[in-house]
Amino acid sequence: MTATPSPTAGPAAAPADDGSRADPRAGLRDSAFLRACRREPVPHTPVWFMRQAGRALPEYRALREGTAMLEACATPDLVTEITLQPVRRFGVDAAIFFSDIVVPLKAVGVDLDIVAGVGPVVAEPFRTAADLDRLPALTPDHVPYVTEAVGALVRELGSTPLIGFAGAPFTLASYLVEGGPSKNHARTKALMHGDPALWERLLARLAGITEAFLRVQVDAGASAVQLFDSWVGAVPAADYRARVQPHSARVLAGVADVPRIHFGVGTGELLHDMGQAGADVVGVDWRVPLDEAQRRIGPGRAVQGNLDPTLVFAPTEVVRAETARVVAEGQRCEGHVFNLGHGVLPETDPDVLARVVDHVHELSGAA
Ligand code: CP3
Repeated sequence: MTATPSPTAGPAAAPADDGSRADPRAGLRDSAFLRACRREPVPHTPVWFMRQAGRALPEYRALREGTAMLEACATPDLVTEITLQPVRRFGVDAAIFFSDIVVPLKAVGVDLDIVAGVGPVVAEPFRTAADLDRLPALTPDHVPYVTEAVGALVRELGSTPLIGFAGAPFTLASYLVEGGPSKNHARTKALMHGDPALWERLLARLAGITEAFLRVQVDAGASAVQLFDSWVGAVPAADYRARVQPHSARVLAGVADVPRIHFGVGTGELLHDMGQAGADVVGVDWRVPLDEAQRRIGPGRAVQGNLDPTLVFAPTEVVRAETARVVAEGQRCEGHVFNLGHGVLPETDPDVLARVVDHVHELSGAA
């Protein structure tokens, strides 16, 4: 399945005449995505989509049939193929590694599953200091299938960057403490405030696991990483700075050799502090216009986002107008990676996403 580069692998398979044929790493280094992350001039605004690999694609559903999510994540051939599917279909400027934020927790032995239509469910939620024993440090030997799949992908992708990712300590803690998805993260915040010492130990432990998981991906060849703190928007800024940011900062410092994207939902009030955690690129959801987000984040950072993922269901002219607005706002920022404001919704028509990619490229200068 992964032995030879596919002739349909889109930009990854296209020979370049800029010298990158001789050295594919040069083409990679100069890719629009990595240039935007570094806030350098770009040939066009790069675009990829959070959750671009997944249920919106019929070819994904076909491949996943009969294989549980976590089993798929531990099968390098499947991971490789699923990661490449959206690159071929959409012509996006970057691939994101197919995995899940709970994979490293499962790998160190936490009893959890990903339940279709629900999300991660933890058999025994985290409650007391004794539960720290269930969170040993992660070593590369826990995730040999990640090293293998990243290596295969880097070979297949050529000059198209691969983004590695992990869940940030707060968001992982939320799943562990709540035992599953949560609307208001009540138990998580009760632990943060009710037993601050245990909270510190939990987040420190999770930061170590997350940093090690990202390190494995970067050492295997990932060109950039995204640290998902999806649910941190539930936390007020003062608590974020005191009880969350230092742990995320430690993770980001551990992979400073590649561009680092840091993203959460509903984080309008946290954008500056998330940038200060050490990210090179701050992901913005659809609630804050990108130029306003850049003002809040401050100088020295690029932005990523932020087309409302529900707008793909609106009439074509609305999608086009909103795409153009996001591109224009991004052009007023120091660097811009086009994305949705959160993940692709499963009901999304893939053709709409393909047209968004083409439109972003047309608007921003690609031939
Ligand atoms: O972006 C990509 O294409 C790469 C793959 C990816 C998955 N999960 C695959 C997946 C990524 C980057 C993630 C990250 C992730 N997982 C996050 C952070 C991103 C975000 O959306 O904020 C979070 C919070 C999770 C936890 C999780 N895992 C949820 C909420 C769900 C959805 C539950 C459901 O079924 O509605 C999952 C499962 C999951 N992870 C699926 C996929 C493709 C769906 C499971 C399936 O296809 O059977």
